[in-house]
Amino acid sequence: MSVKPPKQIEHIGIAVRSLEESVPFYTELLGLKLLGYETVESEKVRVAFLEIGETRLELLEATSPDSPIAQFIDKKGEGIHHIALQVDNSVERLQDLKEKGIRLIHEVPKPGAHGNLVAFLHPKSTNGVLLELCQPGKDEHHRNGE
Ligand code: CO
Repeated sequence: MSVKPPKQIEHIGIAVRSLEESVPFYTELLGLKLLGYETVESEKVRVAFLEIGETRLELLEATSPDSPIAQFIDKKGEGIHHIALQVDNSVERLQDLKEKGIRLIHEVPKPGAHGNLVAFLHPKSTNGVLLELCQPGKDEHHRNGE
């Protein structure tokens, strides 16, 4: 397969203890536009998306003590959690990476925020960076319509 490079940084994920306490810094002090809130049941998180140029910041708050975000904050504190790369054909791409020995957290993409399909690569295979592959879903054009 000829692999097309990811198109852009879809978003940067930041783990926070509280959206209520952290969002005002980005909106009121930095002046970024809040695109909306969304709960992602599969990851046990509530997220806030902020628009910054062509990309977004994704603030993530745990909705349960066994959320990956709660575990991350317990271990490392708040901070940058993942970088999401926008890709096409995430299924084929995951298969290709797996065949090349890259450790995957999700072998099959699953529904994420905004109806995107998402899958994470294991940081052990990516220089310690949790990388999310993010394939835009059908409601890509309705991002702001929450
Ligand atoms: Co993300």
